[in-house]
Amino acid sequence: MSQSENLPCSFVIFGATGDLATHKLLPALFDLENAGRLADNLSLIAFSRRDWTTDDWLGHTRAILQDKVSQPSHQMVLDRFLARFHYLRGDLNDAESYRTLAADLAPGSTCSRTVFYLAIRPADFVAVIKNLKEIGLNEPRGMNRVVIEKPFGEDLESAQVLNRVLHQHFDEEQIYRIDHFLGKETVQNLLVFRFANTLIEPLWNRNFIDHVQITVAESIGIEKRAGYYDRAGALRDMLQNHLMQLLTVVAMEPPPALEADALRDEKVKVLRSIRPIAKRAVHAHAVRAQYTHGNISGQTVASYQQEENVEPDSITETFVAAKFYIDNWRWRGVPFYLRTGKRMPKQNSMIAIRFRHPPQQLFRETPLESITPNWVLLSIQPEESMRMEIHVKQPGLDMNTRVMQMNASFLRTDEQTLDAYEALLLDVIEGDRSLFIRFDEAEWAWRVIDPILKFWTVEREYIPTYPAGSWGPAEANRLFDSDDQIWRNEL
Ligand code: BG6
Repeated sequence: MSQSENLPCSFVIFGATGDLATHKLLPALFDLENAGRLADNLSLIAFSRRDWTTDDWLGHTRAILQDKVSQPSHQMVLDRFLARFHYLRGDLNDAESYRTLAADLAPGSTCSRTVFYLAIRPADFVAVIKNLKEIGLNEPRGMNRVVIEKPFGEDLESAQVLNRVLHQHFDEEQIYRIDHFLGKETVQNLLVFRFANTLIEPLWNRNFIDHVQITVAESIGIEKRAGYYDRAGALRDMLQNHLMQLLTVVAMEPPPALEADALRDEKVKVLRSIRPIAKRAVHAHAVRAQYTHGNISGQTVASYQQEENVEPDSITETFVAAKFYIDNWRWRGVPFYLRTGKRMPKQNSMIAIRFRHPPQQLFRETPLESITPNWVLLSIQPEESMRMEIHVKQPGLDMNTRVMQMNASFLRTDEQTLDAYEALLLDVIEGDRSLFIRFDEAEWAWRVIDPILKFWTVEREYIPTYPAGSWGPAEANRLFDSDDQIWRNEL
């Protein structure tokens, strides 16, 4: 069988008019079209509740992609892309909608291989999975695929239930649990940085590293996603998945091979080694907060409670910081500080590794007061780069030093970075699951954060706040193990 005979010929987007489809999926699919990576026979079906025609949908998609169509050649690509679409008005809970969908899949063709992308609220996952099975769209087993967005479940128990339902109707090979951070260039680059450079690996452990910080700061608020976000909060939306995945890639052992299961085995080992947080220790390990009104880049922004469709007395967290220890030979005693928040001063996602102080105060008698430790900074976005901070002597008669930043951008000036979704959608189409989450990864990540979730679910009266445009609440500083540890906000 040639490879194209294995490729899907239909790609269904459930929740096609939602935020995820608008901001991520459509632009990424368009980029794949532009790169010539979509097979000629692939048709795209936009499934949504809105009372629209295919023409309405095409107008909407054209508007979304407007910025991408700057050259005349792009116009042709756009026309080709739009010609693949068909809009289907449907209700996720209505069996009739699935009958219509089944009839619409590649009509007149013998190819029925389909990708179903669930770009919908997690609360609707089960209904869609069951309805697909009822109409027989979980077959052919080896071919039809289902893509599930994070968070996979709302807590450990619901994740296990969701997984059971999925496995009743689909084989594991058909399931793509997506965490788009794994598609980001820097995250993949981290594997190369660690395992293709012998320079780094000997230092990557408790003997040299003082602590690790993983920050995903966003200046955006919750946009139009209150319905989902107010229920989820930052812990479920970001920390359980994106930040935990970053942690596993920083901390994992080299896998025996660069293949899906070998990589995932190593990641699971890290998650299993994270020291469980006892109920009485939650306060010492995790901080949550919510933004009040403030100012970002000169713009006044409203508080979380004033966002459209958010309950005015909501105590959902928009910021979370947490400390974890990985109890294995490599990392025992090294704190991993994770933090993420909405409405912070700017978008800045990075992994910051702080090294230990030199063992000897050799420069004590010199004008140098104290030597700050070395940092390695891996910036994920907006910039994709790596920096190392090294001390050098300042020229002159006195023994003074300065910090020199060795700065390497991952991109050459003539290169462009793609969004994570391009790579991951292509993997779904081509059937490569290496960068997708295996259930035990999601399950162990839930085990790690479940004690925090449970504790916060009971403590409903109060949540600390931080002004929009700040780096979060002062409470986040109390997580640090020693006085010389501080949050690193900038590269
Ligand atoms: C999503 C979260 O998974 O990731 C959003 O649900 C968040 O709340 C987004 O804004 C961040 O991803 P990116 O790639 O835009 O940085």
